[in-house]
Amino acid sequence: MDDKIANIICKSIRLKIFEKNKVEDVSEGENMRVVIYPGTFDPVTNGHIHIAERAGSLFDRVIIAVAADNYKKNLFSLAERIDLMKKSTKHIENIEVESFTGLLAEYAKGKDAQASIRGLRAVTDFEYEMQIAAMNKHLNKDMETIFLMTEGKYSFLSSTMIKQVAMVGGSVKGLVPLIVEDSLKTKYKLSLEKDKS
Ligand SMILES: Nc1ncnc2c1ncn2[C@@H]1O[C@H](COP(=O)(O)OP(=O)(O)OP(=O)(O)O)[C@@H](O)[C@H]1O
Ligand SMILES: [Mg+2]
Repeated sequence: MDDKIANIICKSIRLKIFEKNKVEDVSEGENMRVVIYPGTFDPVTNGHIHIAERAGSLFDRVIIAVAADNYKKNLFSLAERIDLMKKSTKHIENIEVESFTGLLAEYAKGKDAQASIRGLRAVTDFEYEMQIAAMNKHLNKDMETIFLMTEGKYSFLSSTMIKQVAMVGGSVKGLVPLIVEDSLKTKYKLSLEKDKS
């Protein structure tokens, strides 16, 4: 048999085996590509959603892990952040939303996750994210960090920025899901009323 033809046949057999395994493994839950997308999400923005959608199309299962403890003073409680995230991502089939406490590296081990997903906006994110990635690798050598670059229109978007604008009555339309927009209005109205009384 001609070498070239033999090569083509081998290649097609390998492809078939790969495809067969892939389908079987995924349905049986083995070799599933599970990733974690961690963050504070106080509150979730359209920048976060865009990263989540892309992660959902790249991996079999995406766990959005909402940080329970962090050093920031949050506007939304953990339950509220989870609820807003769940409602904002219900269109993404393979996404689950959970909370996590303690070390992400440990949490990832418990979930059999191969990697964590992080979004990169500008160079300013890079140094901080690199430090986190290196620390996570140190704590859990099997854990990779995958960075997804933001789309230009979301590059200026952060939860902090959203809160700063919403707090003084500015419009955040188109930058956050509708439900978040409404929740922000309610939150700041309530705190305004509290300040007055
Ligand atoms: N607009 C965005 N585009 C892409 N990734 C983003 C965007 N905003 C946040 N991320 C990423 O989402 C993850 C979770 O971020 P986090 O919860 O800190 O949100 P944040 O918007 O940065 O909020 P904060 O202003 O409180 O830091 C991080 O990896 C962060 O880089
Ligand atoms: Mg941040």
